[in-house]
Amino acid sequence: MHSRRSSATIVAKLAHLLASPCLAFSELRQLHAHIFRCNLRASPLLLPVFNRAIRALSKPHPFAAVRLYSLMLRSSLSPDNFTVPFLLNASAALSLLTLGSELHSRSLRVGLLSFLPVANALVDMYGKCSDLSGARRVFEEMTVRDVVSFNALLGSYARLGVDMVDAQSLFDGMPQRNAISWNAMVVGYVNCGDLHSARAVFDEMPTRNLVSWTVMLMGYTKSGLVDDARELFDEMPERNLVAWTMMITGYSQSGRPEKALALFREMEKAGVEPDAAAMVGVISASAQIGRVDLANWVGAYVDRKRIERNERVLTALVDMHAKCGNVDKACRLFDEIPSPDAFSYTALINGLASHGHATMALNLFDKMLEKSIKPDPITFVSVLTACSHSGLVDEGLKFWRCMLESDQ
Ligand SMILES: *[C@@H]1O[C@H](CO)[C@@H](O)[C@H](O)[C@H]1NC(C)=O
Ligand SMILES: *[C@@H]1O[C@H](CO)[C@@H](O)[C@H](O)[C@H]1NC(C)=O
Repeated sequence: MHSRRSSATIVAKLAHLLASPCLAFSELRQLHAHIFRCNLRASPLLLPVFNRAIRALSKPHPFAAVRLYSLMLRSSLSPDNFTVPFLLNASAALSLLTLGSELHSRSLRVGLLSFLPVANALVDMYGKCSDLSGARRVFEEMTVRDVVSFNALLGSYARLGVDMVDAQSLFDGMPQRNAISWNAMVVGYVNCGDLHSARAVFDEMPTRNLVSWTVMLMGYTKSGLVDDARELFDEMPERNLVAWTMMITGYSQSGRPEKALALFREMEKAGVEPDAAAMVGVISASAQIGRVDLANWVGAYVDRKRIERNERVLTALVDMHAKCGNVDKACRLFDEIPSPDAFSYTALINGLASHGHATMALNLFDKMLEKSIKPDPITFVSVLTACSHSGLVDEGLKFWRCMLESDQ
């Protein structure tokens, strides 16, 4: 049996270990063994150590928090009412509905549901795990609710963009509302594609923050209503990179590349530095314009600004250079993509095919099939075009059959 003092030392050591976000499973097992050996199971000394570590880890390292929770249970300890919301948030972050429900029954068993933060976190957890009826049930069983409870349920409707009639009546019946409640309604209407109602809520808001503006803007650009988006964008009291990116991408995706590039120049003038996402919009706009000098300028810009060369940026660059006929550059960039997907292949095949490199296009298509990457209709059209232009009739027929088969 250990003395009091030595268990305090062990507890201090354990506290240090438990606070580490990256414990290996083997280390966790050793810890577990240690807790047993030192007779620390169910020890009130260890309880606050676990609670503290879980609370600290839950946001930055939800998975580590969940593993500690399981170690905690195996050590015959239960999280306190203050820690349970943190664990529920970790379950929500990881979409672990089973863990969330387990915490729900545990809270029910030990009478924690009357504790408002626990019930609120439960509503939020069910919503984030897409279990709207679960969220609704917990909410309805609450005897006391605050604005956080309402917002948690509203947020669940909003994220899914469903049952907005219910959401609206919930919102209308709220004893008090804050910016989060208003924004949730805008998000909900945007997500279910009812931009008219979204705008009505937006116009009615007592105060709008950056989230409100950005969500409304996203609604317009996602629906291809770029002129409405631009009007809103021009009214924005402050514009962050996300707003600029949405607007540039919106123009680019609705076939207005000149507008996209003009806005990009305005963004530069405003001193906002583009990131990879913004550059994807700029690069696809330049691809649509199809001018070699512009493509080269944009390519050099990406280098100069050290834009992250992620898969989407590289694929957009491949597409741009291929469309402008710079096949060598497109191939080199394609080779830079660690694991090209259907979009990357299609971009290059399309470029090769439309610039008379039928055999190269066909070879690349073969490679794509070899890697079991499923071609889309555009890939087939490119390949067929390449075949017909080069008189490769047999190959064309082969791919035609392949397309028919892959449709089934
Ligand atoms: C849990 O998440 C909600 C929603 O993001 C947040 O408002 C709340 O403060 C979080 N609770 C804890 C204990 O981290
Ligand atoms: C939650 O814990 C605090 C102390 O940490 C206590 O005062 C409170 O009564 C507890 N609430 C419930 C519902 O157990």
